[in-house]
Amino acid sequence: MRLGNLTIDPPVILAPMAGVTNRAFRQLCREQGAPLAVCEMVTSRGITERIPKTFEYMAFARGEIRSVQIYGVDPAVIGKATQILCGELGVQHVDLNFGCPVPKVTRRGGGGALPWKRDRFTAIVQAAVRAAEPYGVPVTIKTRLGIDDDHLTYRESGKIASDCGVAAVTLHARTVLQAYGGKADWGAIAELVSDLDIPVIGNGDIWEAPDAAAMMAQTGCAGVEIGRGCLGRPWLFRDLANPGTRTLPTLGEVAAMVRRHAELQAELFGERHGLTDLRKHMGWYFKGFPVGGETRHALAMVSSLAELDTLLARLDPAVRFPEHELGIPRGRQGNPREKVVLPYGWLDSRTLGDADISAAEDGASGG
Ligand SMILES: Cc1cc2nc3c(=O)[nH]c(=O)nc-3n(C[C@H](O)[C@H](O)[C@H](O)COP(=O)(O)O)c2cc1C
Repeated sequence: MRLGNLTIDPPVILAPMAGVTNRAFRQLCREQGAPLAVCEMVTSRGITERIPKTFEYMAFARGEIRSVQIYGVDPAVIGKATQILCGELGVQHVDLNFGCPVPKVTRRGGGGALPWKRDRFTAIVQAAVRAAEPYGVPVTIKTRLGIDDDHLTYRESGKIASDCGVAAVTLHARTVLQAYGGKADWGAIAELVSDLDIPVIGNGDIWEAPDAAAMMAQTGCAGVEIGRGCLGRPWLFRDLANPGTRTLPTLGEVAAMVRRHAELQAELFGERHGLTDLRKHMGWYFKGFPVGGETRHALAMVSSLAELDTLLARLDPAVRFPEHELGIPRGRQGNPREKVVLPYGWLDSRTLGDADISAAEDGASGG
């Protein structure tokens, strides 16, 4: 798959996931074969205001394609942020977030609510593409189907973004209302593929490598983006890179992966913070393995490499992978929402004019 001047082979991307796809996890997935891994989302305002925390999120490993997803609601800020990314940080791929379902964000018209306002959506995409152009950096958008079934935007947004010159469109085939529940509508991905001349990247509900092949066969999408399926399973990228293989690591091999992840986390954040930040991954790594309640609990409370080693040494390395876990949704799911929280009267018109909705950025946290 080509994204501007980048070739992504195999056409598989690690999806941006706030709190997960930091440099350590991206490197782990890249070591397993992921050719492109998108950094956690950062806000465009954090970049233009040079907030140190925002820049800390954008730590890259040597040799990785520097790929960042940004969020924002103000075209001028998005343009300036894109210029800083490309011109100062050597970023090689910029993705625009139009999918965040977090109420704090949609309440103010940001994230997944924004494509409804056609004028603002167009201006944001245009600003990013223009700012990236002198650097030859491809810009992509990531969007959902729409706000809900009665307010679908993906086909129109795809067309607008394509006309603005984006290199690809990623579709998370759910509405904002669905959040992470229900099933992704792969038929919608196929529709977008038939509409557009640029690559469409399909996203939603790839749990195993054959699901990726099935999505590509059923929809004709140029590539896939994978989120939750690789939580605690970075080796999924090995299977994706080597069709026909199905990696079923033993408990010992999973423990070695956790150790590697811990080292990378410690390099990134220092040992204590690195290990505490790793805790959330433990449930995913050991899901379905007979680890024992006490050890499972202790792993989820780990704070040092030495402590981790002691706990991992307790595990029987020969235990085989729990195959009943294959193909099962993992990570964030949540029930579909009752309604999407939107600004008053948001759905009444398709334009926003020059209204200031920049406060939407304050609550932005992925999606
Ligand atoms: C913990 C978590 C954080 C996420 N953060 C982001 C984000 O910052 N930006 C984004 O575009 N999507 C984000 N997502 C959505 C995923 O990238 C992906 O679109 C979604 O999970 C559907 O794909 P999947 O079925 O492969 O997981 C997040 C998902 C999870 C589970």
